Amino acid sequence: HARVTIPQIQAWAHSGRRLVMTTAYDAPTARIADAAGVDMLLVGDSVGNVCLGFENTLPVSMAMMNHHLEAVARTRPTALLLADMPYLSFHLSVEDTLRNAGGFLQRGAAGVKLEGGAKRLPMIHALIDAEIPVMGHLGLTPQSLNAMGGYKVQGRVKADAIRMLEDAQRLQEAGCFSLVLEGIPADLAARITETLAIPTIGIGAGPHCSGQVLVFHDVLGLSPDPGPKFVRRYAQGFEDLRAALAAWAEDVRAGGFPDARESYTLPEAVRPAVAQ
Ligand code: KIV
Ligand code: NA
Repeated sequence: HARVTIPQIQAWAHSGRRLVMTTAYDAPTARIADAAGVDMLLVGDSVGNVCLGFENTLPVSMAMMNHHLEAVARTRPTALLLADMPYLSFHLSVEDTLRNAGGFLQRGAAGVKLEGGAKRLPMIHALIDAEIPVMGHLGLTPQSLNAMGGYKVQGRVKADAIRMLEDAQRLQEAGCFSLVLEGIPADLAARITETLAIPTIGIGAGPHCSGQVLVFHDVLGLSPDPGPKFVRRYAQGFEDLRAALAAWAEDVRAGGFPDARESYTLPEAVRPAVAQ
């Protein structure tokens, strides 16, 4: 299979094909998602809460992101591989931002995603000038947790909705190839999507986006708790895997695992040598 490219993603969106993105954090999650035929794999900074036990995404570092991106990239996915700029990796200086994002491309990402609107335009311009494709991210941006005062739906106040529409246009003008819209009313996401030429990828943003993204562990029910309203679970991963592992533990304790099928035999000629 030919690898999915950014022009391919944009052509699919223009033809009306809805885009599918999920997260991948390591080789098994990347292989499963790629085998399922998703269009884009995002090594999200959600790795912090989903895999590393942090309460939010703020402690996630470039070193952590690079470690997980490298594992995903080694599987050589067909899907477009994107990497998420963690908190403070694109806030300090243009030079620092370019080094961090360029490092993602050198590790196999085809582009980067970063949170924020007009405030981030200088960094976004510098990245695109350096041939680094950028996916924007507006709305409920989890790195803004403290400023938002919690994970709350964004764009419900008139001024905020108008600012988001303007931010979306400015990110498109800056050259972003796509935008994630997270945690916003469906009708606002619809308006942004119809206003823009670039595809929008929604998460908790209703059905009128150009595509959808959900965290891998949320789609598969691997998290012990059900997650936010916008998640739909397509498997009971936690319960199914727990039950399977408990069944194996029971077999071990009962002496039922392993049996002949999982065991090696000594060659006939060697048997007398080890016999009592
Ligand atoms: O980190 C992440 O998983 C994300 C997606 C949910 C868009 O940013
Ligand atoms: Na993220």
